[in-house]
Amino acid sequence: MPAQILDGKQIAAEVREEVKQEVARLKEQGITPGLAVVLVGDDPASQVYVRNKHRACEEVGIYSVVHRLPAETTQAQLLDLIKQLNNDPQIHGILVQLPLPGHIDEKTVIDTITLEKDVDGFSPANVGNLVIGDKCFYPCTPHGCMVLMDKTGIDPKGKKAVVVGRSNIVGKPMAMMLLARHATVTICHSRTKNLAEECRQADILVAAVGKPEMITGDMIKEGAVVIDVGINRVGEKKLVGDVHFESAAQKASWITPVPGGVGPMTIAMLLKNTVEAARR
Ligand code: GUN
Repeated sequence: MPAQILDGKQIAAEVREEVKQEVARLKEQGITPGLAVVLVGDDPASQVYVRNKHRACEEVGIYSVVHRLPAETTQAQLLDLIKQLNNDPQIHGILVQLPLPGHIDEKTVIDTITLEKDVDGFSPANVGNLVIGDKCFYPCTPHGCMVLMDKTGIDPKGKKAVVVGRSNIVGKPMAMMLLARHATVTICHSRTKNLAEECRQADILVAAVGKPEMITGDMIKEGAVVIDVGINRVGEKKLVGDVHFESAAQKASWITPVPGGVGPMTIAMLLKNTVEAARR
């Protein structure tokens, strides 16, 4: 039987509505949640992401400032701006859009964002708290994957979860979140031997590798939940995930589409984290 669709568009709209109501409650207490987004350079994809983040903030009543800096901005100038935002009481969350130009060290930049405002959840201290199960900000994309499952009634407890991809932004935090929810977790990557066999063990399969349609139906266990984090542009217009949707949907019980799956959830979770930062 073909899979049911994990509808990220619909669920993200629900989350945004919840956030909107929470923003209204905070405003009654005199608190307007504020997010600063910093974009360095003119990477076209980043420009689109940043514009979407700004719009999404405005729609739910979050105060949003975008700092667009030229590609030749020095690391020192960027760090100065972050320190200024760290001390700005109107700003509760700071997001520096990645990737940064080559002459700027991403790690130094992320380390400079104060822990209380790290709504992306990328700083070492935040990641440490995630690993030990302490209070932290969940990185937006894996957080979005968890909420997609929660709101659809899919419980990872006791399930075998396979995460394909080991990035700091998605794969590693995803594995930690699934572990915290009592899944048995395997992380696969480019050096994994017999990837197909590993994937076929998965009750929950998360693909986050950035390779168009590399996970095919024959790699999927009958009845698995398939979450596709990939957004790959092929040709001029078409977007595809890391999963070959048509063949995978013949085996899975639930599957995310691309677009309209994980993508819309990422921004919704950023809004949620910003409100959480303001509430704290
Ligand atoms: N670039 C791609 N994804 C992300 C993200 O989630 N946060 C930031 N800051 N940059 C990104």
